[in-house]
Amino acid sequence: MHWRTGSGRRDNVTVTEPAFRTDLYRGTARAYDDFRLPYPAGLIADLADRTGADGTGRLLDLACGTGQVAFALVGSFAEIWAVDQEPEMIGVARRKAQYLAVMSRFRFITGAAEQLTAPDGHFDLVTIGNAFHRLPRTVVARSVWRWLQPGGFLALLWGGSPHDGDEAWQHALKATMQRWQQRPGARARIPASYQEDRDARPDEQILAQAGYELTGRSSVPVSHVWTADELAGFVASTSVLSATALGDHAAEFDTDLRRELAACQPDGRFSQRAEMAYDLARRPG
Ligand SMILES: C[S@@+](CC[C@H](N)C(=O)[O-])C[C@H]1O[C@@H](n2cnc3c(N)ncnc32)[C@H](O)[C@@H]1O
Repeated sequence: MHWRTGSGRRDNVTVTEPAFRTDLYRGTARAYDDFRLPYPAGLIADLADRTGADGTGRLLDLACGTGQVAFALVGSFAEIWAVDQEPEMIGVARRKAQYLAVMSRFRFITGAAEQLTAPDGHFDLVTIGNAFHRLPRTVVARSVWRWLQPGGFLALLWGGSPHDGDEAWQHALKATMQRWQQRPGARARIPASYQEDRDARPDEQILAQAGYELTGRSSVPVSHVWTADELAGFVASTSVLSATALGDHAAEFDTDLRRELAACQPDGRFSQRAEMAYDLARRPG
């Protein structure tokens, strides 16, 4: 348990939130689906268990990407809304649902989470996987509160990035990514106020102020051995160093990245030990 427990709805607070460009993930959907680590089955089973998901309820997966959370929970809900503002992400997710013959349970919506219209009290669980930090958090937290039925849950899932860790190759990966994001002439893709806002207003504060009870964190250890090709694929799936973001520099970046990685790990096996987790909040019953 890492969160303070508390609640208290303060809807009259006015906040200014960083505004992100809406095409940050353009061109990443294929790499995203191929190279992101899946949420571990144990973590998903724990989430379903703690939220009482028994196959009859309704799930809303916001900023769903290609459906990493939605498909992991597909057996636990009768109705799933999957929402993402990037059409390519929804395109891949929709094709997956068709392939898995579960389309009848899904409603796919291309659009911003903060502009979604949904019935009050409709959902048993709302999930946001590796994305709450990219949303106008206060606005979304308040909307989700209304869309949840009393007693319903909001889960923020996170983790799995290969650059988080203390291995030499992880430091090299992180440093190379930072150097290229800050290269002269690179347009700032992320608003300058982003980290400042996260530090000043932690997620748990935003959720408590929106009226949730914070019910704690669950985490599961993961270990994975990456190849250099997979790490390059992971980086291509990010909003900051995708092929679209790098433009004419994509080939040069790829060469640099592989050189840095090979210098740390000549055998080409990059072992990661990390955790994937979710933080759970509940609309009081
Ligand atoms: C890092 S991906 C997360 C995908 C998936 N939820 C997961 O757990 O891996 C972030 C996703 O958030 C989406 N996104 C960012 N801002 C959004 C917004 N305001 N409304 C809807 N989707 C948004 C992006 O298009 C992208 O697909």
